[in-house]
Amino acid sequence: MGQINNLEKLPPQRNKIETLKILRQLSFSANALGELKGDAKTIPNQTILINAVVLQEAKESSEIENIITTQDQLYKALTTSGKQAVQVKEVINYRKAIFTGFKIIKEQGFLRVSDIETIQKTIVENNAGVRTMAGTVLKNERTGEIVYTPPQEKSEILDLLVNFLEYFNINRMDLHPLINLAVLHYQFESIHPFYDGNGRTGRILNILYLILNNFLDIPILYLSSYINQNKSDYYRLLNKVNKTGEWEEYILYILKGIEETSLKTIDKINNIKALLEVSISTARKKASKIYRKELIELIFEQPYSKIDFVVKRLNVERKAASRYLKKLEEIGLLKSEKIGREVVYINEELIDILKN
Ligand SMILES: Nc1ncnc2c1ncn2[C@@H]1O[C@H](COP(=O)(O)OP(=O)(O)OP(=O)(O)O)[C@@H](O)[C@H]1O
Ligand SMILES: [Mg+2]
Repeated sequence: MGQINNLEKLPPQRNKIETLKILRQLSFSANALGELKGDAKTIPNQTILINAVVLQEAKESSEIENIITTQDQLYKALTTSGKQAVQVKEVINYRKAIFTGFKIIKEQGFLRVSDIETIQKTIVENNAGVRTMAGTVLKNERTGEIVYTPPQEKSEILDLLVNFLEYFNINRMDLHPLINLAVLHYQFESIHPFYDGNGRTGRILNILYLILNNFLDIPILYLSSYINQNKSDYYRLLNKVNKTGEWEEYILYILKGIEETSLKTIDKINNIKALLEVSISTARKKASKIYRKELIELIFEQPYSKIDFVVKRLNVERKAASRYLKKLEEIGLLKSEKIGREVVYINEELIDILKN
């Protein structure tokens, strides 16, 4: 089965993970992330942001695994009933797994092995849990060559996971948390505790780690889009740490990803905020009779809206809800589309922002 690479327990040697280059990059990453945290708070309704970013992250992270969907398919699936394509379902599951993890971290303030299993189970929709059978290896997708063999014995996997959690839950090395995040991500992927879904579970753990360490209040940093765009480096650098024990390039990669995606998300937040303000003022002017702040917020929380949503949110009759949505379409804020037997109202300008 190829050579067994002995995975070392945490922590790594300090001088390997706290180099001058890393410390320089660290301040850029931490600043960008700090700005993102502050900026996120300026959106009056946090659900708008969480919904938008989490779905995007679910889409991107699944794409790393070649699960390709479109934004439109996803929103349709969230809004309408009926059967969904397998790929759409996987992304929707990933989204659910982020929310599940977020809830655990918020309520409990730490993770257990069983919590990681819960997150992974939500993604892959099976109960296999931590690997019990040998045979899992990591291959180069192109050549089929085995690049890394993770631990095979369940007892060893569990032992390594407990060690992983000791450093996830408490900053034992007193390292900067963003360096720790990179180390933890490598370690989790190298333990590779499951038959499938390790990449996606590990990327959710990254977001949860940021929340646990108060770098973010809500799950809105989508590193997966960066990893997607720099995918071969991602694999190459995880592999480099396996092979050589040299951490610098890999940690720099993750830190740059944090900086880059923070800045992109800040842009996105500002665009959403501007559109929200314009939409509110348009509705106030051109639809003053039906204008309500919650109605406009709703079409931002649910870029694909429907009568039911309005009924629930505003506590009005179906007839009124239908009238509201039609009015918003009339003044150009929404566009209706028939999907199966349902009519959905799409906030197209918002979708455009989210797509970019
Ligand atoms: N050499 C390596 N060492 C450690 N981890 C690796 C290595 N190569 C790849 N990985 C990790 O393994 C993940 C793939 O594992 P798996 O198929 O279980 O996860 P997934 O979530 O289904 O896939 P994906 O990450 O592609 O979406 C990669 O995303 C990466 O994080
Ligand atoms: Mg997989």
